[in-house]
Amino acid sequence: GDVAVLVPAAGAGVRLGPGRPKALRLLAGEPLLVHAVRRIAFVPSVRTVVVAAPADEVDAVRELLAPVAPVQVVPGGAERQASVAAALAAVPAGPEIVLVHDAARALTPPMLIDSVAAAVRAGAAAVVPVLPIADTVKEVTGDDVVLRTVDRSRLRAVQTPQGFRRSVLAAAHAAAADPLTDDAGLVEQLGEPVTCVPGSEHAFKITRPFDLSLAEHLLAEARR
Ligand code: CTP
Ligand code: MG
Repeated sequence: GDVAVLVPAAGAGVRLGPGRPKALRLLAGEPLLVHAVRRIAFVPSVRTVVVAAPADEVDAVRELLAPVAPVQVVPGGAERQASVAAALAAVPAGPEIVLVHDAARALTPPMLIDSVAAAVRAGAAAVVPVLPIADTVKEVTGDDVVLRTVDRSRLRAVQTPQGFRRSVLAAAHAAAADPLTDDAGLVEQLGEPVTCVPGSEHAFKITRPFDLSLAEHLLAEARR
């Protein structure tokens, strides 16, 4: 295995509504994080998994994941970017490919994780899985008046796992100023190329209650 996977899982899940931190919310009776880590561990080239957990849930997450896969658990930070940085700092020497994968993308197919790692192995500095945008996209003013319609043919929705040459991700985080919502954005700021590979609809991020219901339905269908 030449791959380390960092799993930011320290968010509160405000948009999902009141309850436990999102990574610990149940989907088909198991925490989202368990679904995500099980799929990561299924990828043969993965040697190391580091989870950034909510600071007061580190021991609970360690116990939760012990029967699922060998993982390291570290306390996350106030922003996603700080959680990723904390996980990156815990990666031992060895893996030269580092993937960053949201716990909230609990149903991501192992094949997608493998394809992102393969693109880095083939020489890309940074790799993001993307999908075309289905809806028409408009730019609006601060008070919601339409300014213009954006040409969506050149727009992509970006998922995780995002994959990096280890040195590139380390340099990107070392140079990071303002927190961004993804790691490839930090690499863009370094001026390094970011390569797209086809994403997967199953890698959708569980953000709002609708997404959790969708995930429940997809799992129930797969088990029928
Ligand atoms: N994340 C993290 N540390 C943070 C914030 C987010 O590790 N301080 C993780 C989340 O646990 C999630 C991923 O980053 O797996 C994507 O973030 P998001 O979907 O925004 O999750 P939350 O921040 O938990 O949700 P919300 O923004 O609705 O509170
Ligand atoms: Mg968030």
